[in-house]
Order: sequence, then C-alpha cells, then structure tokens
Amino acid sequence: MKFPKMLIMMVAVLAGLALVASTQAASIVGSKHDLTKQSWYSGDGQVCVFCHAPHGASNTLAPLWNHGTTTATFTMYSSPTFQGVIAAQPSGNSKACLSCHDGTVALDTYGGATGSHIVAGSANVGTDLTNDHPVSFTYDAALATADGGLVTPASAALVVTGVPLFYGKLECASCHAVHDPQYGMFLRASNAASALCLKCHSK
Ligand code: HEC
Ligand code: HEC
Ligand code: HEC
Ligand code: HEC
Repeated sequence: MKFPKMLIMMVAVLAGLALVASTQAASIVGSKHDLTKQSWYSGDGQVCVFCHAPHGASNTLAPLWNHGTTTATFTMYSSPTFQGVIAAQPSGNSKACLSCHDGTVALDTYGGATGSHIVAGSANVGTDLTNDHPVSFTYDAALATADGGLVTPASAALVVTGVPLFYGKLECASCHAVHDPQYGMFLRASNAASALCLKCHSK
C-alpha cells in the first residue's frame, strides 16, 4: 500500500504546482500590447494610457476606456449551424479590441488625440467578421442544450475557471487575455491540443 500512497501524494504536489503556475499572470509590459515599444512611439512611457485613463474615460466598451472607438459597420458571423443570436454589431469589449484591430482607428488615437499608425499585417482583422470565431452573442445553458456540443457555462460571468463571459456574452476577451502574454497570442489558456477550444466545446 506504500506505493499508491506515494503516487497520490506526488499527484497532489503536481496538481498544487499546476495551480500555482496557472494563477501566475505575465505582465503586459514589454508585450505586443505595450505600445511604447512601437517604432513610432515617443512619449513618457505609460503603458496603460493607450487603453485606459484614471479620469475623463468612458465605461461603455471596457473599464475606464481611453482609446478612440471604431464607428465601422461590421459584417457579423453567420452559418447554417450556428445557433446563437448574434448582435447586429459587436458589443462590449469586442468593440474595444476592434477599435485597434479593425484597421479603421489608429493605434495612437487615444486621450482625445488623433493618431495615424494603423495596426499591421494579420493583426488587422478588418471589418468582415464572417471568417472569425463568432463574438457578441449570449452563451448560456439554453444555447448549450440547443447545441448539444457545448459546455454549460458556470454563470453569466464565467464558462469555466479562466474563461470569462461579459454580461453573459462571448466576446473577444473570453478567449484573449489582453494584458497577459504568457500563453502566446494573449490567449486565456494554452491552446496546445486545442485545450482552449475544449474549455467550451465538448468535442
Ligand atoms: C491594448 C489595450 C489595453 C491596455 C494597454 C491595457 N488594457 Fe486593461 N483592459 C483592456 C480591455 C479591452 C479590457 C476589458 C476586457 C477584459 O476585462 O479582459 C481591460 C480591462 C482592464 C481591467 C478590468 C478587468 C481586469 O482584468 O481586472 C483592469 C483593472 C485593467 N484593464 C487595467 C489595466 C492596467 C493597469 C493597464 C496597464 C498596466 C492596462 N489595463 C492596459 C485593454 C487594455
Ligand atoms: C490600443 C490598440 C489595441 C487594442 C485596444 C487591442 N490591441 Fe491587440 N494588438 C495591438 C497591437 C499594436 C498589436 C501588435 C500587432 C503587431 O504585431 O504588429 C496587437 C496584437 C494582438 C494580438 C497578437 C499577439 C501576438 O503575440 O502576435 C492579439 C491576439 C490581440 N492583439 C488581441 C487583442 C484583443 C482580443 C483585444 C481586446 C480584448 C485587443 N487586442 C485590443 C493593439 C491593440
Ligand atoms: C473562440 C476564441 C477566440 C475568440 C472569440 C477570438 N479569438 Fe482571436 N485568436 C484566437 C486564437 C486561438 C488565436 C491564435 C491563432 C493562431 O495561433 O494561429 C487568435 C489570434 C488572434 C490574433 C492574432 C492574429 C495573427 O495572426 O496575428 C488577433 C489579432 C486576434 N485573435 C484578435 C481577436 C479579436 C479582435 C477578436 C474579437 C473580434 C478575437 N480575436 C476573438 C481565439 C479567439
Ligand atoms: C469561450 C467559449 C468558447 C471557446 C474558447 C471556443 N468556442 Fe467555439 N463557439 C462557442 C460557442 C458558444 C459557439 C456558438 C455555437 C452555436 O451557436 O452553434 C461557438 C461556435 C463555434 C463554431 C461555429 C459553429 C457553427 O455552427 O457555426 C466553430 C467552428 C467553433 N466555435 C470552433 C472553435 C474553435 C476551433 C475554438 C478554439 C480555437 C473555439 N471554438 C473556442 C464557444 C467557444
């Protein structure tokens, strides 16, 4: 009986370590969302200010939002098998992301100033969202039941630990942690063996 006991202890220790590792966030400083690293940048080195300000900001898209807001008209996702009810236009923080990533608002348009540097390459997702994972729709138990291949969200704020919803909706920031580069691509969790996808899809 000695051996299994040791095994259980080892598993417990490893699980403990995994827990510690998964709660340790990496910093936005020096990441691709640290816009002070952009070649065009000259300023006092503030990292948050491109997106947030402590005063005079707006809470419509994301907390204390300080970046220019996109006014583009987006083509939303649709498919014959999609069962969610998608918003007519992106909502919540998806619109905040798109305010840099749709390529219509300059990265340096913030704090009331109008900039000129547009996000480059494949980070520019454009305004046609038909070829991107659907966002801005309610993901609840009813959708999980209707779909049959989805995890039932724990609450209107959470699918499972580490995968948030926003006012009950799946948004860009459900999959992406805007401040945390630890998993690459600012993902909420590692997508090795499609682990991130499997947090919501039971496939
Ligand atoms: C590139 C844009 C961007 C930058 C830069 C940025 N944020 Fe955010 N932040 C967001 C977005 C979008 C959200 C809403 C989505 C979310 O909560 O994940 C958010 C949400 C937050 C929240 C509320 C949710 C949470 O995670 O607690 C806090 C607090 C916050 N940011 C603080 C900061 C601070 C402090 C900095 C600078 C060190 C910073 N942010 C830099 C875009 C940014
Ligand atoms: C203030 C502008 C700004 C906002 C707002 C913003 N981003 Fe970004 N993002 C950038 C820039 C700049 C890059 C780097 C692009 C490049 O590589 O040239 C980037 C890169 C990325 C990348 C690629 C990272 C990599 O490692 O290649 C992802 C993913 C991403 N952003 C997702 C998001 C999501 C999701 C949101 C909203 C929650 C968001 N961004 C909000 C400016 C922004
Ligand atoms: C269902 C999860 C999910 C949602 C929702 C999602 N993304 Fe992503 N996104 C990913 C994954 C996974 C990758 C990494 C793909 C790869 O490694 O090739 C990625 C990559 C990216 C990249 C980097 C593209 C590149 O090649 O440089 C950007 C930018 C990005 N996402 C922005 C967004 C924005 C903006 C939204 C909302 C409109 C969004 N994402 C919604 C999962 C998601
Ligand atoms: C935060 C939860 C979540 C994550 C993470 C996630 N998805 Fe989804 N995905 C959903 C929900 C909810 C739907 C809507 C299902 C429906 O209504 O048919 C969906 C829709 C889809 C669809 C379209 C289904 C259709 O019928 O049009 C595909 C394909 C898909 N996801 C693949 C992926 C892949 C691949 C990944 C990983 C890169 C991923 N998803 C990550 C929640 C998620």
